Amino acid sequence: MTMQSAAPRAKRILMVGAPGSGKGTQADAIAKQFGITHIASGDLLRKHIADGTTIGKTVEDIVNKGELVPDAVIMDMLRKPVMAANETGGYVLDGFPRTVEQAEAAYRTAGTLGVGVQIAVHLEVPEEELTRRLLARARGADDTEDVIRHRIKVYEEKTRPLLEYYASREILIQVNGARPVAEVTWSIVVQLQRAFKKPNTHAAPRQATTDKAVA
Ligand code: AP5
Repeated sequence: MTMQSAAPRAKRILMVGAPGSGKGTQADAIAKQFGITHIASGDLLRKHIADGTTIGKTVEDIVNKGELVPDAVIMDMLRKPVMAANETGGYVLDGFPRTVEQAEAAYRTAGTLGVGVQIAVHLEVPEEELTRRLLARARGADDTEDVIRHRIKVYEEKTRPLLEYYASREILIQVNGARPVAEVTWSIVVQLQRAFKKPNTHAAPRQATTDKAVA
């Protein structure tokens, strides 16, 4: 498959944000709004763990400690769903990439397949609010106070540098995620609609927009 053979108007969106910033919540809403597929690396990993698959057994301890799962496992797990979603309108990817290395590996593979990310959406939320949300949710072993603190530290060290990476390559949409869910969704959707009107979104590097402009 070449870049030309990919679905011509597939929308390819990526969510970046700390644990609890609302990536999953907003990815669901965006997927419904644009009729595309929500792919969540964390949900897929938790399903593997619940089903007791080989991947699940390999990653369970890592996920429960709030560490990052090895890149090769994640890339293998996501390849098929990403390519399938690209053929059916596009995707909103939540939880991947988590590091610049993952982004570079994805860029190399996805670029030639025509399934590369067009727009990254960043949700900024203060740390106290992240912790409050995750403790209230208490999803499992990784939503305890110590592990939450560690996950936020991992985000700051390994994932936040992605913002710089995407700002220089794709359109980066900056959103204040510390507001009611519907308000955050509205802000994202308005900016995405605007971005998708641009003639060739994928070929429009070095742009950043912020919801301050639409608030
Ligand atoms: P993952 O499942 O991706 O977890 P996370 O990034 O820590 O994010 P969360 O799901 O906790 O939060 P979220 O930002 O999606 O917020 P949500 O919408 O759920 O990853 C889990 C683990 O898997 C990782 O730690 C790692 O081990 C591994 N992993 C995953 N991907 C990997 C990768 N690429 N490489 C390596 N390892 C990987 O909302 C959270 C809560 O807040 C909910 O209760 C929600 O209702 C509430 N909420 C949301 N928005 C609002 C709002 N605006 N106001 C009030 N409450 C809100």
